[in-house]
Amino acid sequence: MTTFADGAELKDALRRHDYIADDEFAVVVHLATVLDRPLLLEGPAGVGKTELAKALAAAGGRKLVRLQCYEGLDDSRALYEWDYAKQLLHVQMLRDRIGDRLAAYPDIADASRFLAEQDFGLYSEAFLAVRPLLEAVLSPEPVVLLVDEVDRTEESMEALLLEILAERQITIPEVGTFTARSAPWVILTSNDTRELSAALKRRCLHYHVGYPTPEREREIVTARAPEVPAATAADVVEFARTLRDLPLRKSPSISEVIDAARAATVLNAHTAPGAVPDGAVRNVRDILLAALLKYTGDVTLARTRLDGAPEPAAQTRPDEPVAGEHPTERVTVASRPANTTTAVFRGRGGGGDAARVGARR
Ligand SMILES: Nc1ncnc2c1ncn2[C@@H]1O[C@H](COP(=O)(O)OP(=O)(O)O)[C@@H](O)[C@H]1O
Ligand SMILES: [Mg+2]
Repeated sequence: MTTFADGAELKDALRRHDYIADDEFAVVVHLATVLDRPLLLEGPAGVGKTELAKALAAAGGRKLVRLQCYEGLDDSRALYEWDYAKQLLHVQMLRDRIGDRLAAYPDIADASRFLAEQDFGLYSEAFLAVRPLLEAVLSPEPVVLLVDEVDRTEESMEALLLEILAERQITIPEVGTFTARSAPWVILTSNDTRELSAALKRRCLHYHVGYPTPEREREIVTARAPEVPAATAADVVEFARTLRDLPLRKSPSISEVIDAARAATVLNAHTAPGAVPDGAVRNVRDILLAALLKYTGDVTLARTRLDGAPEPAAQTRPDEPVAGEHPTERVTVASRPANTTTAVFRGRGGGGDAARVGARR
């Protein structure tokens, strides 16, 4: 098990597990581990929230205990439930002995009263089916507890979480109260589909994970898909950035960029430079669009914009997208200077780089 002196040391450790964090994020994660506070990560899907918990567990030499949240998640899936099959088996094995004893009570009511008074040990720790929250509390070795996609559960689940995070203990009426046997590092994630309760937020350190800078995203692609040449990674990252400026239903996430970069690398390997038939460049682009975008409407919109079709929104001031602006008011591809769009398909000046996806030469 490992602890980290500061954010920089943690960042390096995460890097060794192929997780690329920026300085600020690494400092926040480090603080959460030192201050013993749960860390709540919010942000769009696919920006590395879940992966952070996995990488942190690997870097810290801790087991990852994961509670995946969903609508309808209840105590029996989050905390514990009684292992009914095991209890039944136990009783069956005792059946003959119980039968002998019951023979002394010919009257049913007496027999029933006798049974009720017996303790068969069925409600003890041995018959618990332990679920993630209880597992984290019971573990003698400290773990990383990942409560993934909290926003998918109902608020009642949040209340239960709060109680456990605050008290670090779980009470099972039949058995008693378990207090945490070691201090877990707790990571909660939310994809921002609903606002979490103020109480939960107050309990946690909070960090918003957004899309990475181009440098960091290139680094991520190279870490996750080492076979992708640097120039291809750069092109695909740039292309994804262009798409993220569009008012799409679902912007390309990091995982999609990695997939697209892999696809581009394969396509590129099969496309001899100079032998690109007319139309092939557009085909490559369309395949990448399919890897990066998940909705037909988004693909259509992206194609229209990339092909430079006139759009009223193209009149907006170029290169001044402001975070939080209404998406339709954002700068559009058509308004960008032509040489900064989709270098993937046009090739960039001075080229000579065989790795460039679909570059004309
Ligand atoms: N900072 C990062 N470093 C390395 N890989 C990353 C990073 N961020 C995202 N990824 C990649 O993107 C994928 C999706 O990230 P994930 O953590 O599942 O997203 P989410 O934010 O939805 O939980 C990961 O499996 C990983 O391959
Ligand atoms: Mg996730």
